[in-house]
Amino acid sequence: MESEQRLTSRRSFLLRGAVLGVAATGAGRVMGFSAPARAAGAVGSLSSGDAAILRFLSALEILETDLWQQYNELGGIQDAEVPGGTGNRRYTAALKKLDGDMDQYIHDNTEDEFTHFDFINAYLVSRGAQAVNLDTFRTLPSSKATGAQQIGRLTNLMQLTVDTSWWTRYRSRTKNPDFGDTFPPAVPGLLQGQFPAIPRDNNDLTPDKHLQAIANTAGFHFATIEQGGTSLYPSLAQRVSDVEVLRVLLSIGPTEALHFQTWHDKAGNAPPLTDPINGLVFPHLNAPPFGGEDFQTNLIMPEPTIFLNRSLPVCSIVRPTETAGAAAGALKFLTDMGLFSGQSDDFFTLMKTLAAQADAATRTC
Ligand SMILES: [Fe+2]
Ligand SMILES: [Fe+2]
Repeated sequence: MESEQRLTSRRSFLLRGAVLGVAATGAGRVMGFSAPARAAGAVGSLSSGDAAILRFLSALEILETDLWQQYNELGGIQDAEVPGGTGNRRYTAALKKLDGDMDQYIHDNTEDEFTHFDFINAYLVSRGAQAVNLDTFRTLPSSKATGAQQIGRLTNLMQLTVDTSWWTRYRSRTKNPDFGDTFPPAVPGLLQGQFPAIPRDNNDLTPDKHLQAIANTAGFHFATIEQGGTSLYPSLAQRVSDVEVLRVLLSIGPTEALHFQTWHDKAGNAPPLTDPINGLVFPHLNAPPFGGEDFQTNLIMPEPTIFLNRSLPVCSIVRPTETAGAAAGALKFLTDMGLFSGQSDDFFTLMKTLAAQADAATRTC
């Protein structure tokens, strides 16, 4: 019942977005970048900067929802809370090698993402600003494997290049990306090609090690996505002006961190193997040349590291949290991983514009 209400409200916001100009052509007009004229003397309208930050976050949450929906259709629990696919038994079983509850966690993460964009869009409208609707860009193909809905998608989970350097970034005690430091990936092979994180069709369901490599890719991708959200919210929160908008960011951001730590734990359980089809290697992270504190798989909490100034004591923190260019950086991170492979020029123009507007926001009080 509750979820039905939620779905109804989601649909109503999508429709409202459509009314606001989604049918218009050209990325600049898809959104209508200026806030609607506010009523004279209206109380509580958002500053343009706060609206821009919320709109960028809403767009990313819509994209995040789209990718999680695809995972849920094939590897999550199928129920009325997250309707859609019918599940893929073999892919779900391969994911469960990482944890017997993977289907539940995938389902719950997916539902959370729906609520993130639903809420931010509703909040934008409640404060006299424009919601975000990306429906016009739902053009990418679905997986043809048993279990997936055949609908247009915003994101592509079938050609991913996954940067797993967050693994070592969160274990370093002496480095911080905000100081310009770089970190080696846990799974170097995932940065050296394009790999499916969901079965593209039923041919990907065999042999077993190939399907397990796809499930392992998903397992690392889950954490890669959620660590991005973990950094993005505190990075952008530094430039919002309205205390209530700050509360929105400070209340959603930590749920991304809750997701991240869960997935960090599960990724460590990915079985070491070599994909017999494409040669992708998932190394044994507890054995040389890996192993030690930088790689051991039961270290899932952040190690303390340098923060703000090297003269201050080390601190256990989210990293990075630099605010300058954070939106453009998040967009580049998602683009570089191949998440938008096949998207139109208009899509990239719109997303870059939303990011630039969010990065132009400054604290006004
Ligand atoms: Fe989210
Ligand atoms: Fe998330």
